[in-house]
Amino acid sequence: MFPETDVILHGADYNYEQWLKYPEILENDIRLMKESHMSVMTLNVFGWTLLEREEDVFDFSPLDERMDSLHKAGIKVILATPSGARPAWLAAKYPEVLRVNAARERELFGMRHNHCLTSPAYRERVRIFDEKLAEHFKDHPALLMWHISNELGGECHCPLCQEAFRKWLQEKYGTLDNLNEAWNTAFWSHTYTSWQQIESPSPKGEFLVHGQNLDWRRFVSDSHISFLRNEIEAVRKHTPSIPVTTNLMYYNEGIDYVKLAKELDIVSWDNYPRWNAERDSFSVALDTAFFHDRIRSLKHQPFILMESSPSSTNWQNTACLKTPGMHEAASLQAVAHGSDSVQYFQWRKSRGCSEKFHGAVVSHDGRSDTRVFREVSKLGLDLEKLSGVRETGTKSEVAVIYDTENAWAINEIQGYKMSRKNYHETLVSWYAPLYKRGISVDVIDQSADLSTYKLVVAPMLYMVKPDFAGKIRQFVDDGGVFVTTYMTGIADENDLTFMNGAPGPLEELLGLRVEETDCLPDFRTNTVEMNGLSYSNIDISDIVISEGAEVLARYTSSFYAGSPAVLRNGNAYYVAFRSDGMLEDVLISDLADELSLSKAPVKLEEGVTAVRRGDYLFLINFSDKESSFTPDHEMRDLLTGKTISGEETLPVNGVMVLTDDGRF
Ligand code: GLA
Ligand code: ZN
Repeated sequence: MFPETDVILHGADYNYEQWLKYPEILENDIRLMKESHMSVMTLNVFGWTLLEREEDVFDFSPLDERMDSLHKAGIKVILATPSGARPAWLAAKYPEVLRVNAARERELFGMRHNHCLTSPAYRERVRIFDEKLAEHFKDHPALLMWHISNELGGECHCPLCQEAFRKWLQEKYGTLDNLNEAWNTAFWSHTYTSWQQIESPSPKGEFLVHGQNLDWRRFVSDSHISFLRNEIEAVRKHTPSIPVTTNLMYYNEGIDYVKLAKELDIVSWDNYPRWNAERDSFSVALDTAFFHDRIRSLKHQPFILMESSPSSTNWQNTACLKTPGMHEAASLQAVAHGSDSVQYFQWRKSRGCSEKFHGAVVSHDGRSDTRVFREVSKLGLDLEKLSGVRETGTKSEVAVIYDTENAWAINEIQGYKMSRKNYHETLVSWYAPLYKRGISVDVIDQSADLSTYKLVVAPMLYMVKPDFAGKIRQFVDDGGVFVTTYMTGIADENDLTFMNGAPGPLEELLGLRVEETDCLPDFRTNTVEMNGLSYSNIDISDIVISEGAEVLARYTSSFYAGSPAVLRNGNAYYVAFRSDGMLEDVLISDLADELSLSKAPVKLEEGVTAVRRGDYLFLINFSDKESSFTPDHEMRDLLTGKTISGEETLPVNGVMVLTDDGRF
């Protein structure tokens, strides 16, 4: 993946543009980078105006100077194309590059990540810049990877985007009749009789035609992807063998990352968990683990942790510090789940503007005798001991389905329990019992190949796409186990409900049909009984008629007491109610035994996680107390070199990277 390095990368966003008037700081930076074991710096994310101060007047000398200095110090460079923020002259000369919001107001110049996705002028200026940049640095020995733009996202509703949307729709539907059918426009007399009548969703106009909203989101996602492609082509023209990435985000549901990832050589992402801002670290670790697994599963190969905070994150509501050791625990968690780097935003705290209080390796005092600097340096040293982990893969026997278009459609629903649809939380509640047992999980969407898994869990699969039903049938026929829940099989890819009711095309596979769905206010819960144990049901309860499925659990309260709550049809399970987590835990535990899913070779205490990558086992203590464990055979800790055979203790935030040289 990285032809010029053999280490797990350690680095940061280096906004050297802000320090050009302080040559002693720039010089000191290199010394401090060496001291903290940095192997890579990301440059030029916001460097456009410095290098092209006037249209077509390029001066790459400041960047030359930085790249050369870093190279002399043995530090590689991830070079960004600076399209995330444009020069003021460019916006003044080409106002079409400025985004128009959904209320149809054009923004003024300012901020960042806000270009029109369609503007030919912007694409052209970006392409010219990128080609010049790539041509200039193509033979630079420090150039390791391209970082295209920055955190793509958002949408534009300008006239150019409206035209492009209509064209996209014409290509998709061919005729207006097809479009009207797919969007169900007879509802409220919204039938379109000319393509020109169609507008993007707006709070001032149409926003309740769900098929239209869905297509708009698909169009916006495709626009980001084609914007990205334009940039990738520009840099590949001069550097065909330098890998390209772009930095993805947390809850960015504006882009279908599965599609976007196909354009990239390496997936990278920016990860800012709320460490210490939640009551317990384990729940933060759990959520973060789920995202790491999702990012890794986009290409089923190691990824890059492009940004994380070495200290606090200023834009969060409460900018908590990381407690001692938390930095190492959080960073090695990323490596455990497949990252081949630990990188930060940012190397040095800026003096002004909105990020002057964002955590950085070097703070305003410029010192290296600080707690943060020491912890970052220790991690740098530890990463050097883990070079064997680099490029090793993760083998998962279990997949959880997280489908972006399904998330979009669920968002639109006017019904069920509006304030607690909780798709993400539900996915994590099914992921949790797997994670707690040290069972590796891939997080994939409906388009993925399922043949390598033993267990596929697809909670709240509201939208079932045309080939999925056949694929999951095949998977089950081949011996795989499928688990799904309430709110599944309700709508097709146009968000039109299935004509046989729920679970639509999964009816035969699951051997049941859903007659009604009850929703519970926060103050009411139902009870469910399974094998003599009582479970609590919150939020949602399907009233199900079995059509051959075996009933494993029944409701014991409400007017539907006695009706099925968990059903099994061969290898396909249907959980008809939302539980508080207990049902997930029991069912997954039983299935893990039944399917002999490979789990952690140590018994874990609560809050301690075990994640396997290649021949390595990462143990991390995210609980608030010291924990002890006994491995079931002898292992070696790569961080301390110690052999572990009997009972061991792991302090709070403690990490061990164990290997048994291939016996796991
Ligand atoms: C994002 C951006 C960075 C910076 C950080 C702050 O990830 O890419 O430029 O603003 O947030 O957390
Ligand atoms: Zn636009």
